[in-house]
Amino acid sequence: MASLEDLIPTVNKLQDVTYDAGIDSLDLPILSIIGSQSSGKSSILETIVGKDFLPRGTGIVTRRPLVLQLVNISEDSPLINNYSPSNSTSVSPPPPSHESTENFNLEDHLRQQQPNYKSNIGLEWGEFLHIPGRRFYNFLDIRKEIELETSRIAGKNKGISRLPINLKIYSPKVLNLTLVDLPGITKVPIGDQPTDIEKQIRNLILEYIAKPNCIILAVSPANVDLVNSESLKLARQVDTQGKRTIGVLSKLDLMDHGTNALDILSGKVYPLKLGFVGVVNRSQQDVLQNRSVEEGLESEEEFFRSHSVYKTISNRCGTRYLAKLLNQTLIAHIREKLPDIKARLNTLMGQTEQQLASYGGLNSNKREDRGTLILQLMTKFASNFVNSIEGTSMDIST
Ligand code: GDP
Ligand code: NA
Ligand code: MG
Repeated sequence: MASLEDLIPTVNKLQDVTYDAGIDSLDLPILSIIGSQSSGKSSILETIVGKDFLPRGTGIVTRRPLVLQLVNISEDSPLINNYSPSNSTSVSPPPPSHESTENFNLEDHLRQQQPNYKSNIGLEWGEFLHIPGRRFYNFLDIRKEIELETSRIAGKNKGISRLPINLKIYSPKVLNLTLVDLPGITKVPIGDQPTDIEKQIRNLILEYIAKPNCIILAVSPANVDLVNSESLKLARQVDTQGKRTIGVLSKLDLMDHGTNALDILSGKVYPLKLGFVGVVNRSQQDVLQNRSVEEGLESEEEFFRSHSVYKTISNRCGTRYLAKLLNQTLIAHIREKLPDIKARLNTLMGQTEQQLASYGGLNSNKREDRGTLILQLMTKFASNFVNSIEGTSMDIST
């Protein structure tokens, strides 16, 4: 039985195959996180994932969009149980099947490729689209790979590239979610940055958030006046009515003593239909002292629970609540867009069928043919899925 929770993974798969096939026409629903440099974007993403895995440093660190797909897997998932946890393990992607993707058995496939597979050790891992089949169990290696892959395309200096890095994280602890981390908005070029770096970054951000199917996660540090928030200014350019922007107020712990952001958080200051969420992430000091993400999360919850003002709204504050809100907002959004997606899938399906017919049959050894075939299977699958989900009622509890 298909369920609403399957919506995000299905859209993820579509995102992958269409990306591989160089198709940009589906315009699938996605969340993008924006904010000025050091506003706390990376900290929020790390807390949502529950791991340290993003490159750190001063200045411009995120120099390519990072498309982050979080995939919730249950602890008894066959994906987990029958797999060797070795970090250097490399397994080729599944071969395309002529009949159906349903007959494909991951377990058998892995057993064939890895005679010595062990079970149930690596419970959480990352996979990059540019390194198919390799599982990263050590999240610090994920950080290294992002750095390497960033320099590979965007150079070693401070340039940016619009070519995204695609990373999937599988874990029993995450909610299904697809987020794009974008370079931070800068004001002044530093060092040998190109003089138009600010414009380049703004254009890149706009490329993502201008799409009507993008939900904008606009981060503003609470210790800076909201009227100066670069992220809200940018969001307003493309979402003039504040219908698809979620405000995130970071660094609530750094506000001047005796002041608070209750008015902003209760929507009295800046109108956003999806509202504002306040968060407190680890400080620089915390990170230097090796405080873990879990510890950070605990003290964040304690901060809101014990705060004289925020304790009245503490159930709607913090990163855990934010993750839940994002998951539900994304599901609701995809659901609303299903008729659109279906129409575009049908067009795409017609195109791939034509393409296959024009080849006069399929040569499974040819890479392009395989790509087309996988795309065709996937669009069929997604289209069936969309049909089965259409009648499902929207019942998401908080
Ligand atoms: P990004 O540039 O937007 O990705 O920002 P980062 O997540 O890298 O954060 C920039 C700096 O601010 C880091 O030193 C973080 O530890 C710190 N920071 C982020 N969020 C908070 C917060 O809520 N409170 C405090 N005190 N520091 C924070
Ligand atoms: Na900002
Ligand atoms: Mg960052």
